[in-house]
Amino acid sequence: MKPSASDRLIIALDVGTRAEAISLALTLAPFAGWMKIGLQLFAAEGPDLVRAIRETGARVFLDLKLHDIPNTIARAVESVVRLDVQMLTLHLSGGGEMVRAAVAAAPEDLLLLGITVLTSANSETLREIGMVEDVSQQVVRLAEIGADCGIGGVVAGAQEIGALRKAVGESLKLVIPGIRPRGSEEHDQKRIMTPAEAVAAGADYLVIGRPITAAPDPTIAARKILEEIESCVFRTDCH
Ligand code: C5P
Repeated sequence: MKPSASDRLIIALDVGTRAEAISLALTLAPFAGWMKIGLQLFAAEGPDLVRAIRETGARVFLDLKLHDIPNTIARAVESVVRLDVQMLTLHLSGGGEMVRAAVAAAPEDLLLLGITVLTSANSETLREIGMVEDVSQQVVRLAEIGADCGIGGVVAGAQEIGALRKAVGESLKLVIPGIRPRGSEEHDQKRIMTPAEAVAAGADYLVIGRPITAAPDPTIAARKILEEIESCVFRTDCH
């Protein structure tokens, strides 16, 4: 059975304080099954905030983008598991041994997500650090390492969905940020897709921040996005 539209929607809680994060999570609970806590909020408010967001009933995507030696990664994953989060990110550029250590330390119900090439990087960045210069080639190469090592999914730009599905089929969940409903402000996102376009292209989960959290009424914005996802999810030609 296909997951419901709200099960596919992840709200990026990119705010600086516990009070703002909890207020948003409570307001948006009827619309989104997931809340994403990133480095800014985790560094400011720590594990207590993760527990508080879990208490609102949301599933938590802890976006810590781990990258370290295999033993440290395994121990970090064990600590994160005690926070009862449901998604966690790590950099696939840490290599197979590191990724396997993370997978071995994670229980089945924690979706480990690999970061391939950050969307802030381009071919110049890759050349600078001595990697394959073609971004999409590098994304696929890293995703294949992740799939071979048993991770559950990757975070990727919407434009990479096609190449990733071709390379790894349905073996990885695709979690896609850079989503903007038609007519909404782009902010600093450069390569965007609408919610319906991303789902039609093969996205499993959409990560959406400012189009909802900075809207005059976040509940109206969230409802519209859910309707857009729903209109696509239940068509047979959609993912
Ligand atoms: O506000 P907005 O919808 O642009 O938020 C997108 C979220 O997804 C932010 O938390 C951002 O850090 C995250 N993200 C992204 N691009 C990536 C990976 C993560 O925008 N490649």
